[in-house]
Amino acid sequence: MAGFLWCNCFSFACLLFLNMLLIINAVSAGSTNYVELVCSEDTDQAFCRSILTSDPRSQNANLTGLANIAITYASRSANATAAKIQSLSRLENDPRRKANFAACATYYEKAIDSLTAAPGELESGQYLLLNLDGGRVNGEAISCENMFKSRSPLTRENYLLAQLGEIIVIISDKLDPSGT
Ligand SMILES: *[C@@H]1O[C@H](CO)[C@@H](O)[C@H](O)[C@H]1NC(C)=O
Ligand SMILES: *[C@@H]1O[C@H](CO)[C@@H](O)[C@H](O)[C@H]1NC(C)=O
Repeated sequence: MAGFLWCNCFSFACLLFLNMLLIINAVSAGSTNYVELVCSEDTDQAFCRSILTSDPRSQNANLTGLANIAITYASRSANATAAKIQSLSRLENDPRRKANFAACATYYEKAIDSLTAAPGELESGQYLLLNLDGGRVNGEAISCENMFKSRSPLTRENYLLAQLGEIIVIISDKLDPSGT
């Protein structure tokens, strides 16, 4: 009797489980699974998801579309931060921190160069170059953050750009499995 009940309960649980799997599959059958595919490899998965899904186009985007979203977001963010660095630098009186801002301005210039090249590399399928540029964007943002031993006024901006660089690296790896 106990065995019979257990069996029935088990089958019911099993059916529920299978149903859930079907629902999850159906929901991700659109292009949201590309966001999952990419973000499951990110060092900060939750942040990656929130970045990519903040653009409604990510819902129906394939890997190329997601790469475009990440590149545009990174470019806009890097430009805005470069402008912020200029204005913070003008207001700064401490020569050491002023030098930190000057270094950050150079790092951001390089990141912006990479992000200016990125759309063409994506368009022409030069995924290895795109991969390298994504890595540079990530590295320049981290280099800027590392200039400040403490009291970095750019932590949020540097983290966002570093993450976007990482996302570009992950996507370009997937677009070109033979690369890197
Ligand atoms: C990605 O989607 C675009 C349209 O949004 C399409 O032109 C392109 O061929 C797709 N790329 C791949 C690799 O499926
Ligand atoms: C960022 O600035 C670069 C260089 O000035 C420019 O080419 C690019 O279009 C800007 N990016 C965005 C998203 O506005």
